[in-house]
Amino acid sequence: MKILVIMGSPRKGNTYKAVKKIEKFMQSLGDVEFEYLMLKDANLSQCRGCYMCIMEGEDHCPLKEESSVLEQKMHAADGVIFATPVYVMNVSGSMKTFIDHFAYVCHRPRFFDKKALLLSTTGSLGLKRVLDYLKFIVGTWGFEVSHSVGLVIPARQISKRNEQENDRKLEKAALIFYNSIMKKRHSPELIDVLAFHFQKVSFGKPGYTAPADYAYWKEKGWLNPKAKYYVDVPVNPVYNAIGLISEQIMKRKMRKEMAELRK
Ligand SMILES: Cc1cc2nc3c(=O)[nH]c(=O)nc-3n(C[C@H](O)[C@H](O)[C@H](O)COP(=O)(O)O)c2cc1C
Repeated sequence: MKILVIMGSPRKGNTYKAVKKIEKFMQSLGDVEFEYLMLKDANLSQCRGCYMCIMEGEDHCPLKEESSVLEQKMHAADGVIFATPVYVMNVSGSMKTFIDHFAYVCHRPRFFDKKALLLSTTGSLGLKRVLDYLKFIVGTWGFEVSHSVGLVIPARQISKRNEQENDRKLEKAALIFYNSIMKKRHSPELIDVLAFHFQKVSFGKPGYTAPADYAYWKEKGWLNPKAKYYVDVPVNPVYNAIGLISEQIMKRKMRKEMAELRK
């Protein structure tokens, strides 16, 4: 099993050491290979905000060489660990720059056969905010988020008790992540089904949406009225019905907005 670590800390400190412990735990469970992508060494350029990736396609991004290498790395892994310290109540700057390189994947998701483990460390605050943010983003990229783990590591000194508690959390995370990679993708939650239907409306009308988004959604067959989800997994029929109703409500709202704009 191949694991890619996207490391958002600029040093081999708390976050790196926590991932190393996960690596050790996972290697005790089976044949697991870790690759570390240290974002500080990747020297990613800042997104230029040109919108080309979203409107015309990722091949038109002026930074496409940087993004495509990273995207290939994620495709080559069975699971990806997104790891970041809390920096001023958010992900680190290098992690945010990395995420910005994949804005187009939020519109054109693709990592449905991949599992993700989210990890963050903090001196005290911000874990929930950071882990929720990462969960939302990599979820929209198509990853199934197996688990999120957050560790509080006080700057001065960590007590033996807290260290043991953190180790237990890491061992649990390693086990859940390993088992989740061994299993098939699970059925989507209601929120995931709703996201599919909302995106279907947003990206399903040529002329209204970005050409690259429309083409991608059409090619994937996701605009087919019978499409229930991005991938072929059982979808709860109640969730599907709620999704279809929401789709109709949203379509009506969009038609109204378009009519207003034409006035
Ligand atoms: C620039 C910077 C900003 C930070 N912001 C926060 C913060 O908002 N809240 C907090 O509790 N800890 C904050 N911390 C502490 C780190 O989140 C914490 O020490 C983390 O474990 C560092 O991870 P690392 O050793 O992998 O770099 C900050 C640290 C730095 C260097």
